Amino acid sequence: MTHSPYKLLFVCLGNICRSPSAENLMNHLIEQRGLQNQIVCDSAGTSAYHVGEPPDQRMAAAAAKRGITLKGRARQFQEQDFEAFDLILAMDKENYRNILALDRQGLYRDKVRLMCDFCRHHRDREVPDPYYGGSDGFSYVIDLLLDASEGLLEYVLNTQETIA
Ligand code: 4NP
Repeated sequence: MTHSPYKLLFVCLGNICRSPSAENLMNHLIEQRGLQNQIVCDSAGTSAYHVGEPPDQRMAAAAAKRGITLKGRARQFQEQDFEAFDLILAMDKENYRNILALDRQGLYRDKVRLMCDFCRHHRDREVPDPYYGGSDGFSYVIDLLLDASEGLLEYVLNTQETIA
């Protein structure tokens, strides 16, 4: 029997640093396990500041050091995403609040989680915004997202019985 893929959406403010990194890192882990037909990823920003732009070059450089190419163009989170995705991962608490503010009837609260809920090694509760900082901030984002992505993949595999 075939099932429709499980759909993950990663959300930050601009959709040019943290959420495209999460999307592409997660895709890397999914492809390593040959699960690309069963789990699919996308990303979006709560703001429209950078719509249509490719990922930030500093973020892309930090990802490239770990062998990850950042693909995609920025888009803004929209209400239809609540229906279209199974799980929505907010990078920080402000993103989380801004997403839930669009869920006026509270129908989708359970679909929205903080990305750091899935970290197994880091104690951070949020993925820090690296935009106005130095290169260390970008590599820290990759470290943190790798930890959270590994935990998230285990969570999806443990909770979705049809994915194996
Ligand atoms: P992101 O980073 O939310 O991780 O994509 C940012 C990108 C742009 C801005 C802030 C954060 N900005 O203020 O333009």
